[in-house]
Amino acid sequence: MEKRKIVVTSALPYANGALHLGHLVEYLQTDFWVRYQKMMGHDCVYVCADDTHGTPIMIRARKEGITPEALINRSYRARVKEFGAFEMGFDLYGSTNCDENRALSESIYLRLKERGLISRRSVEQLYCEHCGMFLPGRFVKGTCPKCGAKDQYGDGCEVCNATYNANELVEPYCAVCGGKPVMRASEQLFFELEPFRDFLKAWIPAHTDAATAGKLLEWFNEPLRGWNISRDKPYFGFAIPGEQDKFFYVWLDAPVGYMATLERWAKARGETLEAWWQDPKAEVYHFIGKDIIRFHCLFWPALLENAGWRTPTQVFVHGFLQVNGEKMSKSKGTFVSAATYLKHLPAQALRFYYACKLNGTVDDMDLNLQDFVGRVNSDLVGKITNLASRGAQMINKSCGGTLGAMDLESRALLAECRAQLPEVLAAYEKRDFCRAMVLVREWADKANQLFDAKMPWKLVKEDVEATRAVLTGTLNLFRLMAIALKPILPSYTEKVEKLFGEAPYTFADAEKRLEGGAIGAYEHLAARIDPKAVEAMVEASKETLKETAKTLTEKDAKKGARQLATKPAETVFPEPLAETISIEDFAKVDLRVATVLTAEAVEGSDKLLHLTLDVGEAKPRNVFAGIRKSYAPEALIGQQVVMVANLAPRKMRFGVSEGMIVASTDPDGSFRVMQPVTPTAPGARLH
Ligand code: MSP
Ligand code: ZN
Repeated sequence: MEKRKIVVTSALPYANGALHLGHLVEYLQTDFWVRYQKMMGHDCVYVCADDTHGTPIMIRARKEGITPEALINRSYRARVKEFGAFEMGFDLYGSTNCDENRALSESIYLRLKERGLISRRSVEQLYCEHCGMFLPGRFVKGTCPKCGAKDQYGDGCEVCNATYNANELVEPYCAVCGGKPVMRASEQLFFELEPFRDFLKAWIPAHTDAATAGKLLEWFNEPLRGWNISRDKPYFGFAIPGEQDKFFYVWLDAPVGYMATLERWAKARGETLEAWWQDPKAEVYHFIGKDIIRFHCLFWPALLENAGWRTPTQVFVHGFLQVNGEKMSKSKGTFVSAATYLKHLPAQALRFYYACKLNGTVDDMDLNLQDFVGRVNSDLVGKITNLASRGAQMINKSCGGTLGAMDLESRALLAECRAQLPEVLAAYEKRDFCRAMVLVREWADKANQLFDAKMPWKLVKEDVEATRAVLTGTLNLFRLMAIALKPILPSYTEKVEKLFGEAPYTFADAEKRLEGGAIGAYEHLAARIDPKAVEAMVEASKETLKETAKTLTEKDAKKGARQLATKPAETVFPEPLAETISIEDFAKVDLRVATVLTAEAVEGSDKLLHLTLDVGEAKPRNVFAGIRKSYAPEALIGQQVVMVANLAPRKMRFGVSEGMIVASTDPDGSFRVMQPVTPTAPGARLH
């Protein structure tokens, strides 16, 4: 099989909104597909980033009285954590507010300008003199010109669904300060599309699905309107080179952010953006929702084509999430944020359910909360996971924890299921995850039938060897399911690999039969969902609304405006994980390699281990480390760790701690101590 080179992206989420279950429809399906490609052994890279520019982010920062940079840094930290909890496997999650993106956006723009593709036109827009800015559609409110409903946004009426321009609103007012806006003209820059009519007309149907192409081509009955790529100050974004007080519209630099993030990723491995994006053998795929096809299938290919970059291989468009058959609703509590979901339910349940529902089309997808509980409890836990828990626990309890040879029926069933694996893989390739899950579920049904027919719980009383053969069959069937499910349930399958003492699975492992040899202890794989937890999540989602409904006060607005005036927008890559410190600050931390001499549990504490560490000094150090839940004391003795050697001694209830050891926390809260890769002299300093 030829190794493919694949670049994959998901749309970049806006930095000012909280991640919700709708967004996850996109991020999870992209992750499934990427993990599948990687398991196939292809060179696949998945990049995404926060979309950080634009008016809403600037206004939100103003309201909070902080700089946009502070806002996007905070949002970045929250998002990276949430994505981590949902087991997202980005190769790099970046930010559009980075140097690479500025440079690429400028160079693409300058290339278009050089080629005479940028024109200037005067545009009249609503301007708020109090706020000192032009008002985008979402920032003007007024009376709907069609139905007369009050307090509607400038881009459309929520009562009669009419769409119109903000300047058509009757009695418009600024949504930020309530003031009356005026019409003001200013010159804007346009990227003209009409010259690329023929190029786009051919490009669109070749690079996206028929439904999407049909929708886009409707626009071609009229001349294509030029695209306004500039915004006036104040704006949080990249300044347009050669212009005064003009910035790139966020939708120009956002897709360029795909390339910028890929470039950051490539550079970190000593490679270049060109080696990936421009390699004729490489494939580039964008996963996006149906609301942003205009940007990805019209502007983006025209921009790339004319700036000398390749266009994407395919744009994969998905539909919107509905909950219980309706649009997500804040008042009904079905507009659930990722954070709220995680407080009540396990991430893998949503991964599993979405996989069962996603079929690679642009149709909307329904999350029916009752069905969700049913699918997880009856299929993932009841049918699939139970095979492992019953099989492994019985083998460990009654058969000495070792596998034997499979009985004949299991062997035949395994061969039958395995013969369907190519069909599962083909479904993954087509993003028809639903089909893949149907097949795995059928395997589980058959495996359960066989298990029930063989009645190993009875058989064990008469014939241990026959029981071992049956359970070996059950576990081999389960193992095949875990391999097939790995793109959907990566941490689940990791535990299965551990149970069987095997290296990380690829699909080739499905060829192997596991016979003879010991298995590990059964580790809990998946829990049933209590419908009450779902109810609690819905309740909590109603509450969040009350908190966010706070309105802006005059004082907030003034404070924000002052901040903005003193701190102009600048490009800073968000410090991903913490506020910055200076190099001098860092130099103060004395990190040393230490060897663990003794380790014991501290009586009266379920968190602490008492360690003595050799740091190359005359006397070992006493350290109390809060890592007991992740390490048995014996496992640490003789190991090397990294310690902060110049931490002021601290008196604790159990003694004095003379330093701290460095450990990371996994998303599940367990600890891993940092260790040198090769044996190092105790006391060696880390820089
Ligand atoms: N920032 C832009 C994308 C720039 S890409 C160069 C954006 N951000 S977003 O946060 O509004 O949406 C991110 C992705 O999530 C989009 O593809 C969007 O279609 C998708 N979804 C947002 N809400 C969704 C649902 N309710 N259901 C399914 N997908 C949804 O657009
Ligand atoms: Zn205003």
